[in-house]
Amino acid sequence: MKARDHSRMLAVLAEAYAAHSPSSAKAQQKAQSIMIDGGSHTLRLIRPFPPRIARAAGAWVEDVDGHRILDYWQGHYTNILGHNPPVVSAAMHTAFEQGYGLQTGFTDLLQIEVAELLSERTGAERVRFTTSGSLTTMYAVLLARAFTGRDRVMKVGGGWHGAQPWGLKGVDFHDENHSRFQHVDTRGLPEAIAEEVLISRFNDAQMLVDQFRRYGDTLACFIVEPFIGSGGFLPAEPEYLKQARELATQYGTVLIFDEVISAFRFRAGSLAPLYGVQPDLATYSKIIGGGMQVAAVGGRAEIMKLAGRDGGVKFSGGTYSGHPASFLASLTMMRYLVEHEKELYPRLADLGRRTRRAVEAAFASEGLLAVCTGDGNEAVPGSSLGMVQFPHREGTRFRSPEDIRNPEICDVVLSDKALQLALLLEEVHVVHGLGAVSAAHDEQTIEHLAEGCRRAARRIRSLL
Ligand SMILES: Cc1ncc(COP(=O)(O)O)c(C=O)c1O
Repeated sequence: MKARDHSRMLAVLAEAYAAHSPSSAKAQQKAQSIMIDGGSHTLRLIRPFPPRIARAAGAWVEDVDGHRILDYWQGHYTNILGHNPPVVSAAMHTAFEQGYGLQTGFTDLLQIEVAELLSERTGAERVRFTTSGSLTTMYAVLLARAFTGRDRVMKVGGGWHGAQPWGLKGVDFHDENHSRFQHVDTRGLPEAIAEEVLISRFNDAQMLVDQFRRYGDTLACFIVEPFIGSGGFLPAEPEYLKQARELATQYGTVLIFDEVISAFRFRAGSLAPLYGVQPDLATYSKIIGGGMQVAAVGGRAEIMKLAGRDGGVKFSGGTYSGHPASFLASLTMMRYLVEHEKELYPRLADLGRRTRRAVEAAFASEGLLAVCTGDGNEAVPGSSLGMVQFPHREGTRFRSPEDIRNPEICDVVLSDKALQLALLLEEVHVVHGLGAVSAAHDEQTIEHLAEGCRRAARRIRSLL
């Protein structure tokens, strides 16, 4: 089915939203006169303008227009305990009062404790820290290329590993000439990147076999999320990851799991052990930072050692790596998650499941077919993630980003753009159709979300 034109709907929604949030609208004028598009992260820069946030606590944020907005973005999925959880902010207050927190440029004991905990909960033999997910995947690719002496990098179409040279191909769908996820999605890179980065299809084990047969001897690494994030919140099928492990071993390719979203999201540790598959390297960030900038690469000692003095890979970490307040937040958060693992994760999974089903039921009650991806599978017992899709047909199966981002299968503009504006009018903030449930969400938030979806669905239907 051809993509529907929703430009009139988006214009009507944008007008209603401008009337609903005049202070944020005014702030945008000032913001975009000095910052490109008025801010610093594309996903936050909702069109025509984002709500400017003044306060955030638990499941809710408050904007400069005085709206109390239920939030499912939760700091790009970092805030597993909700916004500004007292357990972390109290530790930060105390540290600052005692004169410790801003960057020193020295190294301290905190880093050792975070490294020990991370290694214990992920199986990484060695870790090294930096400040963003993008940097972790970049360093992991450098390590893999140095270790293997090969150039080629394989990733999956629709896999987002941050803005770094080998992560920027195959991010956007592009349908013309059926060249799906085959483009380099930024200007400014060397042309060689188009050749160097190979795109595979998530959960397609046969394609993996074929590509390893053809390119395996030249492949430095295969980087993949065990539970794909922005590509659709879909779990890897266990056989697929096992196949990836076997092929990578057979061809001497470094298997990298990008666990920037999944680490500490499904259990107090990495997701890999639930699949029984250990990658050679893995990348971690988001939740492990406790709301601050902590990111890490971890993995086999013989590969990680290339990041060291004599290894030749310039894994410098950056000025703000090992930041004292960030590592305090990180340690506090990870300890909390480990201590509360047994009750916290089953509760999050249950809330996640009920939230996904409530959203589907709310749209169905208004005559709109919506499917909320984010469910687990036989390896991942439950999940607190959700993404709303509007498939054109009942019974559509979602296995890879090709099924989610394809306008012939799903109404992508409706889920990504129209729904976001329609829900903001109902005091609900979603990205890609929903987001992450935190421990601060509860029965009341499910009801608020469901009511928001019903009202948004009525508005959308009236504009279709
Ligand atoms: C799976 C994954 N990897 C890497 C990144 C990049 O992380 P950052 O935005 O911290 O650079 C992201 C960001 O959303 C991500 O979801």
